[in-house]
Amino acid sequence: TEPLKIALAGLGTVGTGVVRLIETNAQLIARRARRPVQITAVSARDRTKDRGVDLSAYAWVDDPAELATREDVDVVVEMVGGSDGPALAIARTALAHGKSLVTANKAMLAHHGLELAETAEKAGAALKFEAAVAGGIPVVNGLIDGAAANAVERVYGILNGTCNYILSTMEDTGADFGDVLADAQRLGYAEADPTFDVEGIDAAHKLSLLASIAFGARLDFDAVECVGISQVKAADIAQAQDLGYVIRLIGMSEVDTAEGSPRLFQRVRPFLVPTGHPLANVDGPTNAIVAEGNFVGRLLFQGAGAGDGPTASAVVADIIDIARGEKGPAFAMPVAELEVMEPAASGHR
Ligand code: NAP
Ligand code: HSE
Repeated sequence: TEPLKIALAGLGTVGTGVVRLIETNAQLIARRARRPVQITAVSARDRTKDRGVDLSAYAWVDDPAELATREDVDVVVEMVGGSDGPALAIARTALAHGKSLVTANKAMLAHHGLELAETAEKAGAALKFEAAVAGGIPVVNGLIDGAAANAVERVYGILNGTCNYILSTMEDTGADFGDVLADAQRLGYAEADPTFDVEGIDAAHKLSLLASIAFGARLDFDAVECVGISQVKAADIAQAQDLGYVIRLIGMSEVDTAEGSPRLFQRVRPFLVPTGHPLANVDGPTNAIVAEGNFVGRLLFQGAGAGDGPTASAVVADIIDIARGEKGPAFAMPVAELEVMEPAASGHR
């Protein structure tokens, strides 16, 4: 059978995880994909860096946007990061050449997802992004496919592994914010600029994608009200515990019909969560998302929200879908007449 030929743009935490996963599970993947999945070309900034994986069998390309123009590439996997710049150039070039795109990049999708989805649709190419929301948890495909028959009323949860690692570690050990953030960076959880994590921006990127998927609403990152955890002090955490609560950074999106026509509200902020609530026991880089549908009831998606293995797992799941010929619906196709409410203040973006 003809293999599915893929190119990897970005060979950092996620990119090297994808190389390791595809090499380790090659036979299992070929069975599930119904054909072999073969890496043909790779690209990153520094050709000489030791990445702990053997890249000698793959063509090296200095400009990652050129991956899309190669004849030996069917699918481009973007794991560079950043809302614009090289990541956007890679995504646009891939889709313009009719190649399917798999991306882990929520920042790019939150800002340019509509445009990319339209380009993919016109080109007959797939745009898949399971890894962009909640790392290894199959919540994107779970909502797009599994909950497709439902009117979803509310989606909320812990969407940033770095913040959850910081808050739960400070809670357990009393450690200093800066030290725990440095650990999260060392473990590969944090964004290249960790301000995106601690100021809630990364969670807001993910929430805007989830809301678009869950409610069929227009994707609108600027409509997410956003407050991060940088002002949360060890004393706040201790006082919350004395009162029977933990502090968690929660992304919350809900449709309010109280005033007639439905209105979508989206916000990210630290919440006090009662210690008996399922989200209060979510520790470390784990994410958890609750979705409430009118027929399925309450769904809880929980698992590793960051790190090389879990994120690679989501990326390769998308590649397997494409190998099987499943393109999936574009998330950005609105199905609901919803007024997307703008935040009263958005000083953090
Ligand atoms: P990372 O470790 O910083 O890796 C980024 C990679 O992109 C590096 O290999 C880097 O090359 C390459 N790169 C950066 N700028 C480039 C340029 N101008 N041209 C060519 N290559 C360039 O980042 P990551 O943690 O793997 O994250 C990648 C993406 O996945 C981001 O969108 C992130 O938000 C998303 N994501 C990450 C996680 C996670 O847990 N880490 C989870 C879900 C989603 P060099 O290595 O040569 O410098
Ligand atoms: N920096 C992100 C987080 C990576 O900590 O959740 C996963 O998207």
